[in-house]
Amino acid sequence: MISPVLPTINVLYENPAWIPPLQEALEREGFRVRLVHVNEGIVDPSVPPPEGIWMNRISPSSHTRGHVHTVELARQLLYRLESSGRRVINGLAAFELEMSKLRQDIVLRRHAIRTPRTVLAVGREHLLAAAATFDGPFITKHDQGGKGLGIRLFHDPGDLAAHLDGARFDAGPGARMILQEYIGAPEAFITRVEIVGGRFVLAMRSSTAEGFELCPSDVCNPMPRAGGGATGLFGASPIAADDPLVRQYIGMCDAEGIEIAGIEFVEDGLGNRYTYDINGTTNYNQALGARIGIDGMREVARYVRGVAAEEGRLRSVSAVVPDYVASQPDGGTPARPFARSVRESYNEAKPIVI
Ligand SMILES: Nc1ncnc2c1ncn2[C@@H]1O[C@H](COP(=O)(O)OP(=O)(O)O)[C@@H](O)[C@H]1O
Ligand SMILES: [Mg+2]
Repeated sequence: MISPVLPTINVLYENPAWIPPLQEALEREGFRVRLVHVNEGIVDPSVPPPEGIWMNRISPSSHTRGHVHTVELARQLLYRLESSGRRVINGLAAFELEMSKLRQDIVLRRHAIRTPRTVLAVGREHLLAAAATFDGPFITKHDQGGKGLGIRLFHDPGDLAAHLDGARFDAGPGARMILQEYIGAPEAFITRVEIVGGRFVLAMRSSTAEGFELCPSDVCNPMPRAGGGATGLFGASPIAADDPLVRQYIGMCDAEGIEIAGIEFVEDGLGNRYTYDINGTTNYNQALGARIGIDGMREVARYVRGVAAEEGRLRSVSAVVPDYVASQPDGGTPARPFARSVRESYNEAKPIVI
C-alpha cells in the first residue's frame, strides 16, 4: 500500500471555543491539525511558511473578545501565505468580504442577488445625511460586524442623532457604520444557507423573536429554549439545493473564492428574499444537525480532504488521500481529546512565525 501523505491542516483561529468541532472533524478524516492563534506574532517573508494546507477561521468580531489585532494581523498573514503559494481555504478574498458588509452588498448585487438598500457612512454628519435618504425604517450595523454588533432599528431618522450622541455609542472598527433598509418579515425568522465547496449543505431558520444576535453555534446557544423543540431558536428550513437563490449563492461563492459560507436572508410579506450577511466562520448548530441528520463540520472536513487530494495531485505527491482515509476501518485516525489540545495551543507562549 502506498504510504499515506496527508498534509497538516494549519488553522488560523482566534476564538478557541469554536475550534473543537472543527478539529475533531478534521482529525476524524485523518489529518494532523496545527492551531495557529492570531492576535500577536511575527511575519517573516525571508523564510518559507510552514507546509500544509491552511484554513482561515478568523471572525470579524475578534476585537470583542480582547483580540484587537487579530483582523489586521490575519490580513497580512493571508497575503503572505497566498504569496508563497500556500493553499488557504477561505483565503484573502473571502476574508475581505467577511470583514465588510459594504463589500458583501457590492458582491451580492454583482451577482444579481437582491439586497436591502445599504449605505456606508463614516462620521456623524454623513451618518445623519445618509439616514435622511431612507424612506422607511432602517437599521445600523458595524461594517465589520458579527454577533449583531451595532445593530439597532430606527423608525425615524431624527432618532439617530440622539443615539450617536449617547455615551454608549460605538461606531465599530474604523468607525465604518452601515445604514440598511429594514425588511419587515411577517414571520419572525431569517434563513441561513450553508455552503461548502460549491455544494449546498443545509438551510436553517433562526427565530428573530428574541433580537438581532443570531450566532448559530452551540457555544452561543448551549441550552435548548423552552417551547422551542430540540434546538430552541433554530429549526430546519424547507429551502433545498435546487432553490434558485441557493444556485445564485453557489455561483457567487465559486466566482468570489468563498469556499465555506453561511449566507443569511430575510423574506418580506410579498415573498421577496433579501440577502444581507455572508459568514465564513460558520459554526454549525450540532443539535439541529443531529435532528436533520447533517453534520456540517463533517462536510467541511470532507471538503478539506478533497482539497488535500487536489493539492497532492498538483504537487505530484504519491498519495491517494481520499482512498486511503476511506479504506481505514474506523474512517481515519481516532480523534485526540481535542479540548485539551486546543488549550495547549492556545496557551503556547512562543510567538507564531509565519
Ligand atoms: N436589513 C435587515 N432587515 C431586517 N432584519 C435585519 C436586517 N439586517 C439584519 N437583520 C437582523 O439582524 C440580524 C443580524 O444582522 P447581520 O447583518 O447578520 O449581522 P451580524 O453580522 O452581526 O450577524 C439578522 O440575522 C437579522 O435578524
Ligand atoms: Mg448574521
